[in-house]
Amino acid sequence: VTRRVTAPEIRVRKGGEPIVALTSYHANTARIVDQHADILLVGDSLAMVLYAMESTLGVSLDLMIAHGRAVVRGSKRAMVVVDMPFGSYEESPEIAFRNAARVMQETGCGAVKLEGGVRMADTIRFLIERGIPVMAHIGLTPQSVNTLGGFKTQGRDTALWPLIKADAKAVSDAGAFSVVLEGIVEPLAAEISREIAIPTIGIGGSVECDGQILVLEDMLGYNPKPPKFVKVYGAVGTAIDEAVKAYADDVRSRKFPGDEHVYLLK
Ligand code: KIV
Ligand code: NA
Repeated sequence: VTRRVTAPEIRVRKGGEPIVALTSYHANTARIVDQHADILLVGDSLAMVLYAMESTLGVSLDLMIAHGRAVVRGSKRAMVVVDMPFGSYEESPEIAFRNAARVMQETGCGAVKLEGGVRMADTIRFLIERGIPVMAHIGLTPQSVNTLGGFKTQGRDTALWPLIKADAKAVSDAGAFSVVLEGIVEPLAAEISREIAIPTIGIGGSVECDGQILVLEDMLGYNPKPPKFVKVYGAVGTAIDEAVKAYADDVRSRKFPGDEHVYLLK
């Protein structure tokens, strides 16, 4: 077996070689992403990307575990991080531990991720003291879409920068091995990255973050209208469209199956 990337190895990459992270929801993409990324995130964004839900709030712990197992099975060197879904950790550190322990035991992942800064610091510390590495997630936290009033970039009002900085410092002090900075204005994401002790992983953040993450399907070009922070590196949507069209044409014109695709008698 190949040893996997660990939370302490990510933690010491502060200011070093940028950390490469991508989401992965199932085994077939995990196998490919595992060759190139340091971290595979089983993100609750799968609610929207795979299941066409309008937010991430409808995801259950069992669903995250099912996808987490698939990604662990399909990979061997990257660290697998599984998102704690909405409702599985906010109530108390004890409930968070019970549910995070299930995620670790039933998937074999290396860490969990949860959303929230100052308000989640005690929970983050509680999990880490009991053996569960935690990646934090601050800024635009999609599980709070209803209280934030939409998917809005954070930090446009510089008067609120101290609050976001306090979140970053709180998760760092609590012992998180890294923190996702999502949807934060660039100069603030850069400042936080310079100021806190743990690696920052940006998405709609800054090139000065210690690493970057994107939703795999977005960067592959599945999404015809990707958000501004996505750089599209592939044309997978077009590739699937062309392949399916060619198959449909072949079936309709009886070009498929050919002799080489059927079991002929000798
Ligand atoms: O769910 C997700 O994909 C995430 C990343 C965008 C950080 O949380
Ligand atoms: Na997420």
